[in-house]
Amino acid sequence: MPIPLRVLIVEDSQDDTALLLQDLRAGDFDVSFFRVDTPAGMRAALAEQVWDLVISDYQLPYFNAPAALALLQASGLDLPFIITSGHVGEASAVDALKAGAHDFVQKGSPARLIPAISRALRDADGRRQRQRMETAEREQRTLAEALRDTAAVLNSTLEFDALLDSLLEIVGRVVKHDSANIMLLEDGRPRVVRHKGRSEQATDAGSPTARLSLQNYPTLRYMFETGQPIVVANTRADQRWTTLDATDWIASYVGMPIRVKAQVIGFLNLNSAEPGFFGQVNTERLRAFADQAATALENAQLYENLRRVASRAEAMARVASRLNVQLDLDNVLNTICAEIAWALGSSAVTVTLYDEVAGHLRLAAATGLPPGYLAAHRPIPVSPSDFAADGFPIVVPDTQQWLDRAQAEWYAADNVRALAAAPMWREAQLIGTINVLVVGAPRTFTHDDLLLLQGLAHQAAQATANARLFAETQRRLRNLNALRTIDLAISGSLDLRTTLNVLLEQVTSQLNVDAAAVLLLNRQTMLLQYAAGRGFRHRGIERSSVRVGQGDAGRAALERLIVSRRDLRHGASPLARAELLAGEDFDTYYGVPLLAKGQVCGVLDIFHRAPLNPDPEWLDFLETLSRQAAIAIENATLFDSLQRSHGDLALAYDSTLEGWSRALDLRDKETEGHSQRVAEMTQALAMAHNMRFDNLVHVRRGALLHDIGKMGIPDRILLKPGPLTDEEWVIMRQHPTFAYELLAPIGYLRLALDIPYCHHEKWDGAGYPRGLTGEQIPLAARLFAVVDVWDALSSERPYRPAWSADRVEGYLREQAGKHFDPRVVEAFLKILDAREKD
Ligand code: C2E
Ligand code: SIN
Ligand code: SIN
Ligand code: FE
Ligand code: FE
Repeated sequence: MPIPLRVLIVEDSQDDTALLLQDLRAGDFDVSFFRVDTPAGMRAALAEQVWDLVISDYQLPYFNAPAALALLQASGLDLPFIITSGHVGEASAVDALKAGAHDFVQKGSPARLIPAISRALRDADGRRQRQRMETAEREQRTLAEALRDTAAVLNSTLEFDALLDSLLEIVGRVVKHDSANIMLLEDGRPRVVRHKGRSEQATDAGSPTARLSLQNYPTLRYMFETGQPIVVANTRADQRWTTLDATDWIASYVGMPIRVKAQVIGFLNLNSAEPGFFGQVNTERLRAFADQAATALENAQLYENLRRVASRAEAMARVASRLNVQLDLDNVLNTICAEIAWALGSSAVTVTLYDEVAGHLRLAAATGLPPGYLAAHRPIPVSPSDFAADGFPIVVPDTQQWLDRAQAEWYAADNVRALAAAPMWREAQLIGTINVLVVGAPRTFTHDDLLLLQGLAHQAAQATANARLFAETQRRLRNLNALRTIDLAISGSLDLRTTLNVLLEQVTSQLNVDAAAVLLLNRQTMLLQYAAGRGFRHRGIERSSVRVGQGDAGRAALERLIVSRRDLRHGASPLARAELLAGEDFDTYYGVPLLAKGQVCGVLDIFHRAPLNPDPEWLDFLETLSRQAAIAIENATLFDSLQRSHGDLALAYDSTLEGWSRALDLRDKETEGHSQRVAEMTQALAMAHNMRFDNLVHVRRGALLHDIGKMGIPDRILLKPGPLTDEEWVIMRQHPTFAYELLAPIGYLRLALDIPYCHHEKWDGAGYPRGLTGEQIPLAARLFAVVDVWDALSSERPYRPAWSADRVEGYLREQAGKHFDPRVVEAFLKILDAREKD
């Protein structure tokens, strides 16, 4: 089988060339060749870049081998250069070899020439191979550095804008390109949020930063739908590419989706003017980068949202504390009554407040009247147009003649003979009225009396409006604080888990191992406990709880050294956790201590189902990743509570604040402790039911928010001291539906809806709002129902005192199979029992 050989021959003699070719062919080379005999010819031929070898005569009329060699070296091509010559001194030969020629062969000695060529080709091959490896190593190093930088960015840059800049800066080190941009999805439409390099912006709507439609860009749509990267080697010949004026210089392209928890949130796009430029791109490394970027973007987004909300809350708190002294509404109203009674020399004064929605005046404060007066008062239907726009009072000289029967009777009962009512206006809005009542003996109001009342009513209007505003502000603040409490309860550890999951993804893919887990050190108990894992067949690992110093993981933590164990399958020295890992079929284990600022914060478990023979680079990368893990853990635990939260929750602040401030009778008479208590109990119960770990967070949120729908139930029903009427029950039973309506629009809480929506369903189907039965009721809600009733009965209510523990437990038992899932009751009583013993 002849070996193909493309040879560039530097030779002036046709005859010598023919002889040389003959020798080569006899030496079993399949030769193609080109002959040159001048420097210009040589230069042009080298530019073709197709040669395997140069064979050069030593001396030509206008050229010679040393000059040819110099030209070859200047071209940057790494080709074997063999000199042939008829007669040349040994000194020249040595010089040529020193200058970089590969060999020197006497013309017409094929026995020397052929092996010389073979050797030269082999050498060149080896050199190229080495170079490829060096390049690969260099790239690997660059990648590791880029990933480290990304991690550094991730941990330091929380400013969204700065982060985008840094990401585009760093991606250039991961994959070269002529331009790059980051698009983020907004309402399902990508928008270029940052761009770097040559102009390239795609536009749908004229503006380069307008949102694009996925429909118009098959490349983006593909990434969005599959979560996979896409390479377009030649944009001119690829149907998927959409060419636009500003982008017509782009010849090749690679796109990588940016994903947060498997959800595509945006794209990283790289362009090149050179066709096929991204042909060799290792998309895995780009993906590693994009995943890091996603985490960083998410963190930054959360931070920005939270900061916005926090500063608003601060402003509200400042206003609230300044107004706090004078602005309790009840105090304001009572002060008004007292002041006016004194000013007008009248004993009985009342204040009503106008309810715009209901269109009536409701009595809010009274002085100089019998104690029952306030409680028994019925709202008076009015319209703002009933009152003078300048606030001049209406006078009723004789209640028994001037008013309708019902009202006349009402006043007669308390001997109210006459009255003057001044409207309280605030910027054309009716706030309420101030009423001076004449009790017992008749009295007439002078014009001066009425002018004074008008003026006082004006002042009262401002004070009342402010007080109401304050009450509103306070209520919003309370809501905000409630949300913050929830936030604090659920952030921290979960946030960390998300980060750890991202990390473990990197660990398993970058280190090429089958499974990995992070155990976190609980400093109280000195136990290393499972926090996150990846690649396991079974869930036993989740029960890992290793004492520091025990087993391999415990030893890694204690000695702060990487501990490894191999040949696990043959069981000579099994892992301490062998039982938890039964069926995993692992062969090799590595335990890596996670050290942050010199303190052990956990252990990274690495498992492989085959032997591992790690090289120094692998170990190096393992250390890099474990450092990242340690930083993440430390940050997550140390992060100031204000900075650390969940983005959607921050959004929840916004959307609920808005929604709730519109709702009328919001309040929660239950203590903060109640929500925390039921949430914790429900979580414990869920764990006892082996609920999936990642569902626990939703259970917790659901429990914390279970009665949020009661915000839509009016005070008179919710706070009623006695049993509810049928009509009142109709409203009360809507509270789970209200909760659903309130929470469903908040993406972050969607999976937490089961409890707020279904916590009053009953096992036997007699519950509300939908009358679900048995296992139709989501498990979380079945668990919660038991906890809720337990807690409700153990607590005092406006409509009854608290029950004793025994009575509550008896009731739960009695309702098993009726109200409650019987197995849940059983598990719950066990938990209660265990707690009592503690
Ligand atoms: P809640 O007070 O949080 O009570 C939650 C659930 O605990 C109740 O759901 C019920 O299943 C159980 N529970 C609470 N108190 C008692 C009790 O005294 N006896 C018994 N057997 N079970 C009790 P339910 O009945 O669907 O009530 C939902 C909400 O309606 C209650 O939440 C409460 O806000 C309100 N509500 C219920 N009954 C009355 C009442 O008589 N007067 C007033 N003002 N509100 C009531
Ligand atoms: C987090 O709190 O950051 C993660 C919880 C979630 O999955 O929503
Ligand atoms: C996640 O949603 O993946 C993190 C939450 C958890 O592990 O509980
Ligand atoms: Fe409820
Ligand atoms: Fe409750």
